[in-house]
Amino acid sequence: MEDLVVVGGGVIGLSCAWRAAQAGWRVTLRDPAPASGSSWVAGGMLAPVTEAWPGEEGLLELGLESLELWPAFAEELSAAAGQPAGLHPEGTVVAATGSGDRAELDALAGHLGRLGRPVERLSGRELRRLEPGLGPDVRGGLSVPGDLSVDNRALLAALRAAAEKAGVVVEERAWEPGDTTDAAGFVLICAGARSAALHPGLAGLVRPVKGEILRLTHRHGAFPVPTRTVRALVDGRPVYLVPRPGGLVVGATQSEHGFDTEPTVGGVRDLLRDAERILPGIAEYTLAEAAAGLRPGSPDNVPIVGRLDGRTLVATGHSRNGILLAPLTARLVAGLLAGAPVPPAVDPARFGRTGT
Ligand code: GLY
Repeated sequence: MEDLVVVGGGVIGLSCAWRAAQAGWRVTLRDPAPASGSSWVAGGMLAPVTEAWPGEEGLLELGLESLELWPAFAEELSAAAGQPAGLHPEGTVVAATGSGDRAELDALAGHLGRLGRPVERLSGRELRRLEPGLGPDVRGGLSVPGDLSVDNRALLAALRAAAEKAGVVVEERAWEPGDTTDAAGFVLICAGARSAALHPGLAGLVRPVKGEILRLTHRHGAFPVPTRTVRALVDGRPVYLVPRPGGLVVGATQSEHGFDTEPTVGGVRDLLRDAERILPGIAEYTLAEAAAGLRPGSPDNVPIVGRLDGRTLVATGHSRNGILLAPLTARLVAGLLAGAPVPPAVDPARFGRTGT
């Protein structure tokens, strides 16, 4: 049995640690605050299609591959953990307000159609038939039943439980390069936005991308929580509302301010203003939480998964898609630990930095 230290206890670190322990590795996971950070703050969308951008076709393929793994991953995880993994099997609608927003969604639909991923275009009335809480400003949009969501906090709890049941030892302390307390084994860096400082091969490759996010709780008598994830463009600004038991997650801003994790008044105001244009009924909900997380941005928004040197592996840089890509990343890392190569698209070698 070989030793593996997993650095980072977010959704990627926990998923990889669980899979490695299942494969027979003696795994220690190090994180001063496991199951916190961006994985805790996240919206939990499993949405490769509605996160798609022209020019990011490789990322769309990875996202679709991971989305296909999700139902079995969640089922196995729930059984292993003895608690729900939080998968929400309802799809996504995308709403547009002004004519510019509708034109942008038309462009996205056209792009997806050309990639062989047609999505259904709906009028405002058709969208309101699916989600009656959508307001009168919604003029049209898309239905994407395959883009799902997961309750990220239920997921983290299930992953930690399953990992520990599989033998992973969670140590609530930091890891530094050259840590002399490591057994002579392998190290897997899954430290999200903080990964760049942990290996010279990652320097300058992973940067923090701040996202502010809100949690709203449904109150008695208020309009019901939508069944599906609702994404929208409001005068060009993207907003999403993801259902949770008893409420909604509203996200997210995107900005680069180093390691700042304080939610700002302006961020909260913008999210509430845009969310209320789409679902007016949320005005009666409770504002339960405002938080900010740091997405681990990579230069091409594609994750960085592979070998950095003889004993150091990495799985980071998941940008906006960490929760979605967790099952695929854990599978790739399990393959790597068994000696298999990773696809060139995710290999850190694409940046010409390995061997440092
Ligand atoms: N995947 C949603 C976000 O990063 O805000």
